[in-house]
Amino acid sequence: MTATPAVSKTKKPVAAKPAKKTAPTSPPMFSYKAGTGLVAHVLAGGPVPGKGCDVAVVAVYKGGELSASAKRADIDTDGLVSHACKTDKSLGNSGTCRVVFNSGKEGAPVYVLAGLDDAEKLNAKTLRKATTAACDALKSLKPAKVFFALNQEVPKKSDDKDIAALCARTITESFYSFSACKKQDDDVAAPPTFELACTKSTQSAVEKGAAIGLAIGTGMQLTKDLGNLPGNICTPNYLAETAKAMAKQYKLAVDVLDHKKMEALGMFSLLSVGKASSEPPKLIVLKYNGAKDPKEAPVVLVGKGITFDTGGISLKPGAGMDEMKYDMCGAASVLGTMKAVAEMKLPLNLIVVVPTAENMPAGNASKPGDVVVSMSGQTIEILNTDAEGRLILCDALTYVERFNPAAVVDVATLTGACIVALGHVNTGLFSPDDDLANELLKAGQSALDTAWRMPLDEEYHEQLKSNFADIANIGGPPAGSVTAACFLQKYTKAYTWAHLDIAGTAWHSGKAKGASGRPVPMLAEFVMKRAKS
Ligand code: BES
Ligand code: MN
Ligand code: ZN
Repeated sequence: MTATPAVSKTKKPVAAKPAKKTAPTSPPMFSYKAGTGLVAHVLAGGPVPGKGCDVAVVAVYKGGELSASAKRADIDTDGLVSHACKTDKSLGNSGTCRVVFNSGKEGAPVYVLAGLDDAEKLNAKTLRKATTAACDALKSLKPAKVFFALNQEVPKKSDDKDIAALCARTITESFYSFSACKKQDDDVAAPPTFELACTKSTQSAVEKGAAIGLAIGTGMQLTKDLGNLPGNICTPNYLAETAKAMAKQYKLAVDVLDHKKMEALGMFSLLSVGKASSEPPKLIVLKYNGAKDPKEAPVVLVGKGITFDTGGISLKPGAGMDEMKYDMCGAASVLGTMKAVAEMKLPLNLIVVVPTAENMPAGNASKPGDVVVSMSGQTIEILNTDAEGRLILCDALTYVERFNPAAVVDVATLTGACIVALGHVNTGLFSPDDDLANELLKAGQSALDTAWRMPLDEEYHEQLKSNFADIANIGGPPAGSVTAACFLQKYTKAYTWAHLDIAGTAWHSGKAKGASGRPVPMLAEFVMKRAKS
């Protein structure tokens, strides 16, 4: 079967204008080169390698059991594939990958054998692991065009579309690289064009799935780019310009509230966080109207956009402080989700709201003990200026009441305590609403971007009592991520609400330091399900 035409092409990431020179002390030395991420074309191809593919990725199972595509590869290579499986008994184990060169036949591709473990126990996680391993092998082979057949191995509880989506997304994730701030780009191979395998009967499902996976992967690229950019480039103004560029590209409505407008609304909690920085704080509102009924209640996503968190007067220790450039990953993930939704043209209404500021110490900074009035009228005693995320989120959460939302989900790198509780595996999920909580948990499981539900008992609220204001901004050491969520809960009585603490999941530390793109897959899955029902 011949390859079908492209169903979707990756568009270049949004080219946001560089920040306006609001900070004369640090003019950007270079402008961010947008579009340095992946350019992959995922097509649905035939059941056997299409013409012109340099590499074919096929599946083998534990004990050298060949998948249908591996059997075909075995014929093409005159038995080299089954020979490889006989000589290396580990081939077929999960995460293994072996390159088998063809026997010199004209036009035959090189084969990458990816292990899927036990055929009977095949699941989405194993497929994702194999896809990642195969992409790593491809990076050294540097092909122009790849025939990818792993998506033909569909686990029992999944379907062709979902698996094609997962593979396309994983491929897109694997080929992401960030060299926007290097004079010379790293020697990263240009991502190949991918052709996903299908048959006549699965073609339509595979094409749809590939388009979905590519859209989510593209959203994640934006999230990673924004997260990885340094704090002197990715400022509140830069996030606003990014939102404006997205509005232009996808015909969205955009509104950026400046200091004056926020003052008029009484957002003194948000403003208190940004006041010691020369980068002015903003509230960004981006609206996508895709529902059949334009008046349908929107899903609202609110993302914490602290473009750098020094801790303020409650200054953080120096070691590892550079990672606080990632304190806007909540904002980046809701913008990334918006991009995915706009790419997929989902039939629902979605509003993304980003309160954004830089948390700095200075002579005019908030001090421990200061009391501010939030937009809701509740007064807050700022006992620790490093607990700033909740101070910008509370005003954004009051602001979104005006949209009469179907549901509000806020996303924030809110507490170090959440990392202590859940590590880097699960996002912390907090919600008083069981239905919304279960919806998000399920979305996370299907997208392999999981969350774990945390409590919000009334008793924890006790810790937030203040002698001098209606509420204190910290609740002491016990259950730090819970009391942070309790603080937000006080501002969310008007609608159905959930909070995602992504402090442990938004980025990787160490050698592979970089933004993870989470929780875009969970949020995209969540809104996709909402758009269907
Ligand atoms: N942005 C941090 C939370 C954070 C810390 C995320 C480390 C990822 C890694 C947040 O603004 C913060 O500083 N929280 C404080 C709260 C405390 C003062 C109650 C924290 O977690 O230490
Ligand atoms: Mn902080
Ligand atoms: Zn913070």
